[in-house]
Amino acid sequence: MDWGMANRINRIIRPDTGRTLMFAVDHGYFMGPTTGLEKLDETVTPLLPYADSLMLTRGALRYYVSPKIDTPIILRVSGGTSILNKQMLHEGIVAGIEDAIRLNVAAVAFSIMVGADYERDTLLAFTEVIDMAERYGIPTLAVTAVGKELVRDAKYLSLASRIAAELGARIVKTYFCDGFEQVIQSCPVPVVIAGGKKIPEREALEMAYQAVQTGASGVDMGRNIFQADSPIAMVQAVRSIVQDDSNVDKAFQLYNDLK
Ligand code: R5P
Repeated sequence: MDWGMANRINRIIRPDTGRTLMFAVDHGYFMGPTTGLEKLDETVTPLLPYADSLMLTRGALRYYVSPKIDTPIILRVSGGTSILNKQMLHEGIVAGIEDAIRLNVAAVAFSIMVGADYERDTLLAFTEVIDMAERYGIPTLAVTAVGKELVRDAKYLSLASRIAAELGARIVKTYFCDGFEQVIQSCPVPVVIAGGKKIPEREALEMAYQAVQTGASGVDMGRNIFQADSPIAMVQAVRSIVQDDSNVDKAFQLYNDLK
């Protein structure tokens, strides 16, 4: 692997643990001022010391994040439809590779819509992004399985994750499910899980625990951190599971103590 590519991946997934806590705050690209991110800087800044990387759009990065940080950035480069649009599962490229380089990002992220009406468009645009990003040693994170109507079972998530990896993704983001080992075993690149809609804190910790114990390389979690009763406590509790191998009881105790 090219040095730059390897270095960027190692900045995201810690080589000593093989794990990562990606903090996802890119929701605004299709959800607008998402609850908890209205003033994105106020939410994100205190949590940054506990995140291995930060996933967001170029607008949010420029407007809300200081260039003095050294947290690796994962830049959302797909979009084009919003939650108000019935065809919201139709994304294309919304940020070019030159801007990704200018912003000194560690990776770019693109949503693929496997099984949706516009599957072909998103897969072809995804490979365009990969070709451009690979030219400069920048890894592409595939975001899979976003969408309300999808059945997120092991069969579907394995299929979407494997397609993403075969098309050239260096990291795959998907969802936890029953039989998650099938997803891990059939995907040749590191897999991280999204948190999804806000659920009770203990359940989110349980999901993160099950995912990493089954072989996930970590989480790419947003709402279950920034919409928690105490985001600063939650990010540390999730971190204890991902990076320190805490069990759920210990992590939840930590959450309550810090809260
Ligand atoms: C969705 O496409 C966005 O990339 C989110 O960043 C992702 O779903 C992770 O956030 P959450 O844990 O809130 O689902």
